[in-house]
Amino acid sequence: SSVGRNKTAPHLYGLMFEDISHSGDGGIYGELLMNRDFAGVNGTRHPSLDGWSAIGSAKLSLDSSNPLSKALPTVMKIEIPQNASGEVGFQNSGWWGVSVRPQTYTASFHVKGGSNTKGGKIYASLISMGGELYARSMVEPQIESVFEELSMKIENTKSAQNGAANRFAITLDAKDFAGQTLYFSLVSLFGETFKGRKNGLRKDIGEAFYDLKPKFLRFPGGNNLEGESIDSRWKWFETVGPLKDRPGRKGNWGYSNTDGLGLLEYLYWCEDMEMTPVLAVFAGYALQGKDGISVAEKDMGWVLQEALDMLEYVTGPETSKFGSMRAQHGHPAPFELEYIEIGNEDWFSTTYDYRWRIMYNGLKAKYPNITYISTVFNERNNKMQLPAGTIWDTHHYEEPQYFLKNFNYYDNWNVVANQTGVGVLLGEYSVIQVDTPSGEVNWNNPNELRVEVPRLVSAIAEGIYAMGGERNPNTVKLSSYAPSLQRKEAVNWTPNMIMFSTDPERTIKSASYWQQWMFSRYQGTHTLPTNNSKGSYNPLYWVASINEPTREVYVKVINAGADSIPLSISFDVAFASFNVTSLAGDSLSLFNTYETPSVVQPKNTSVEASALQGGVFSWIVPRYSIHVLQFNSK
Ligand code: AHR
Repeated sequence: SSVGRNKTAPHLYGLMFEDISHSGDGGIYGELLMNRDFAGVNGTRHPSLDGWSAIGSAKLSLDSSNPLSKALPTVMKIEIPQNASGEVGFQNSGWWGVSVRPQTYTASFHVKGGSNTKGGKIYASLISMGGELYARSMVEPQIESVFEELSMKIENTKSAQNGAANRFAITLDAKDFAGQTLYFSLVSLFGETFKGRKNGLRKDIGEAFYDLKPKFLRFPGGNNLEGESIDSRWKWFETVGPLKDRPGRKGNWGYSNTDGLGLLEYLYWCEDMEMTPVLAVFAGYALQGKDGISVAEKDMGWVLQEALDMLEYVTGPETSKFGSMRAQHGHPAPFELEYIEIGNEDWFSTTYDYRWRIMYNGLKAKYPNITYISTVFNERNNKMQLPAGTIWDTHHYEEPQYFLKNFNYYDNWNVVANQTGVGVLLGEYSVIQVDTPSGEVNWNNPNELRVEVPRLVSAIAEGIYAMGGERNPNTVKLSSYAPSLQRKEAVNWTPNMIMFSTDPERTIKSASYWQQWMFSRYQGTHTLPTNNSKGSYNPLYWVASINEPTREVYVKVINAGADSIPLSISFDVAFASFNVTSLAGDSLSLFNTYETPSVVQPKNTSVEASALQGGVFSWIVPRYSIHVLQFNSK
């Protein structure tokens, strides 16, 4: 084996995130209302009233003569008839419903009146589709003729299990407002967020990620960095600052992005989960048409400048132009940035040699201490020679057999890494299809081949590949499963590590999630050399590491075979105790669903204490299983 006693890669297990399958808007981004800005939710980002409907005799329409801001020019006009009575207003369907749980909600909106509007009682309510009231809150503001933001807390004590059937409503007392016209924009509702962050992350999904102890976050894409045209690329500067100044964009996955989850929110996400950002910069290539479209070499200046400005926003001192903008946005201290990725999957283009060169040279000149990640390695484009100290991001959506066959891929790649000084980021990988005789993924995605939900076989195959990375820390620096998150009602891509719907109980951790969880949590500070007296790995695979401060040793073991296998491990030292955590099942095709979320879950396996005799551990590894064996001196 290529394993020696080496420092483990400090950022090995991390997260890949982009807004795909409504993982961002309607997903981890804590906004509970759909189309809060009336800018439209579908792929065209055309103003619409999607998600909104009138309550009582109120009349709703779009209005573009009373803009909230340059970024959000279209608002919602509400006309209340002269003869209105009781409460009239409007409701929002939420993102496939609204989760109603005992907690404090924050509702907010921007409102202005017409010429005759004075003010009066306005209610914000959590209701059921049938009109049952769960909780509400009231304000009685003066309504001005310019937009003002109002915010109110809603204390809710009820639990309404079927989130899909819940709504959010704003109603006006007709006694105060009959015969009047008002304008609303940015109507928003947040529940509790991860670590209580304002404009933050949906709590349960945030916790699911945090529980993985992830070391990095790669964002904002993926394809969603690149745009469907150069103009609809992810523009960092349109994702920062007050929400009313964020125009949003047409995303790459068939729906609009509000960019409420913008650059600074991503950085807060990193801060709140103690992760290092792997920030991707747009590199002059958009996914337009069959072959994509590139910015010409002579025009690359603005692309580089845009990235330089973003880096100043992230890392610059408060005295710099963009650093001071960041301070104004609430984060005076510069962020530390260790990694920048230049583009995404640029092997689809023929222009990366000049785009990489211009971006790398330009960024490196100003930020020499950042590690730059290329999306293409030399062999894919013979005009490119990655400089030493860079990292290559490789993506693998494959069949299980691919990952088994490539367990030793990075052992061999060590030679290349030594020659070139280039490391590896396994930036996106997952089992996407069942094994076929050809071993080649069929990208027409026939249903019978596609793995819709990660299965035990996925966890096993991905785990074996991850071991290949873990035992080569001098080569493989970072790795992340992809895609990480999918909303049940809006699937662009399968499989995903975490699946969710409106109700927090329906946040499903897949078999692949649990494999990542086990590997990420039990990672020592140093890999340990192992000698295999039997010679070959398949179907049993293992990797060992030690946590030097505690002297705890972790041995990860996978049995990919249909039979149990006797295992005996001899250590140079004696241990006093051990613990076995296992992810296992009787069939490779087991998976977790919304209905049965815990079919494949890690368990503490009880193994008789006599299995450990001083420095020798003897055990029979069950079939189809993944384990972390922990050995302690105490
Ligand atoms: O993870 C889904 C997509 O797969 C990513 O957006 C892209 O980078 C890759 O092709």
